[in-house]
Amino acid sequence: MPLHPTIPAALLAACVLAGTTACSTPTPAPPKPPLFVRLGGMPGLTAVVDDFVSKVSVDPRSKRTFEGVNLTRLKASVVSHVCALSGGPCKYEGDPMALAHQGMAISKEELSVMGHYVDQALRRQGVAPEDREELESMLDKLGPEVLNK
Ligand code: HEM
Repeated sequence: MPLHPTIPAALLAACVLAGTTACSTPTPAPPKPPLFVRLGGMPGLTAVVDDFVSKVSVDPRSKRTFEGVNLTRLKASVVSHVCALSGGPCKYEGDPMALAHQGMAISKEELSVMGHYVDQALRRQGVAPEDREELESMLDKLGPEVLNK
């Protein structure tokens, strides 16, 4: 039994009289910040990229193409690429994906090993499941370019 059973009825009457649906329409959720912010901004993104590039470049299933590559430079370039893709304040100045991976003959397995480490890095960084999915689906769309297909 509500303490003041008349209040909801009075509220409803006020809504009807005011001729508005505002009383029954839930307030819309505020707009989400850009994915870049939800990834933790530059510190979060740098930690994620550092984590997954370090892993994918030593895993026996995927290290092949990283031999002799300057990982510090590569990580900085990947950060800038993902930052720009996710709505962050960066301008990616590296090569387009097809050109950057040209001649490497990257396999689907290598791509999926990277995907695994990206997911693991995002989880470790505490990125929310829906934000992980958003980034992962952005990266999935680049798959054909990376595979040069
Ligand atoms: C969606 C997936 C991928 C994205 C978004 C991506 C992104 C990038 C970016 C931004 C660069 C730097 C290009 C530049 O600075 O001009 C790069 C280079 C490179 N990527 Fe990827 N990459 C992906 C998948 C892969 C995979 C699966 C491998 C291998 C397993 C790989 C291996 C490399 C290597 C070895 C380089 C360095 C090339 C060099 O400096 O000579 N990438 N990638």
